[in-house]
Amino acid sequence: MNERLSGSTNIWLTGAGSGIGQALARKLLADGHHLLISGRQRAPLEAIKTLARGRVEVLPVDIATDERLSDQLQQPLKELAPLGMVILNAGTCEYLDASQFDASVVERNMATNVIGTARCIEAALPALRATRRQGLPATLVIVSSSAWWFPFGRAEGYGASKAALSYLARSLRADLASEGIEVVLVSPGFVDTPLTRQNDFPMPFLVSADAAAQRLIQGLHSGRSELEFPRRFTWMLRILGALPRGLVDALAARLARPETKKKTEDTQ
Ligand SMILES: NC(=O)c1ccc[n+]([C@@H]2O[C@H](COP(=O)([O-])OP(=O)(O)OC[C@H]3O[C@@H](n4cnc5c(N)ncnc54)[C@H](OP(=O)(O)O)[C@@H]3O)[C@@H](O)[C@H]2O)c1
Repeated sequence: MNERLSGSTNIWLTGAGSGIGQALARKLLADGHHLLISGRQRAPLEAIKTLARGRVEVLPVDIATDERLSDQLQQPLKELAPLGMVILNAGTCEYLDASQFDASVVERNMATNVIGTARCIEAALPALRATRRQGLPATLVIVSSSAWWFPFGRAEGYGASKAALSYLARSLRADLASEGIEVVLVSPGFVDTPLTRQNDFPMPFLVSADAAAQRLIQGLHSGRSELEFPRRFTWMLRILGALPRGLVDALAARLARPETKKKTEDTQ
């Protein structure tokens, strides 16, 4: 068993108000950990706080727009010291309609998933370094997605943001290795949450938020630095991605939404 999450750990978790984050918060509290939870809306965070009074602090923040996030986090993170783990899970997914290509969709995906996560990293690193100076384990967990492994239609903005985020995580892992701060990259397949309930297409191997949280926590205990689930879905994507580019492109074009194609034809 890896040192991560051994004993009661102090954890900052973003996007804790719903979906995977909420399921994670419940499980981490049941396991006896202390949490600082954030998201934009206060009410769902306060509801989680009632589950374990004295072990949860709430900090509503908007990671996409708040340029002073790092300053806002200093005091709450100091109070949570030693900070053993940060789980950067907050994210958004907006699809793009290629027939009316709108760059602001790409911008909004990037603002939350890439820039917002980067702001959280900037805020968390001093506290994680302080933890390492005490000889304690410090882990940064970044929730990306497996969606960008295949060029899904309409996912230009979301997929690009998660591709960038995954690169950021791996590059940061290289830079932080000498300091002993671990960087864990999480790449889920489809999980049943408010984020995917907007989807109007089949979602193969959809798993519940509880199952996703369970897999994530198991993976953290295992000590691995790359977590992906459900395996049936991620292996399928890996195999598809390993096909020759021409085949991947042909398959991606076939899977692209028929109405998008129709709209494109109509506007031509
Ligand atoms: N569900 C899936 O199939 C799936 C698959 C792969 C990856 N993921 C990733 O898993 C993570 C969690 O997603 P989920 O499926 O659990 O969706 P979700 O239920 O919509 O959760 C996303 C959370 O992020 C918070 N959030 C969004 N924008 C924010 C912002 N600007 N500032 C602060 N907090 C913000 C939301 O809270 P507020 O609205 O209160 O801010 C919400 O609690 C995301 O990074 C997502 O991309 C999900």
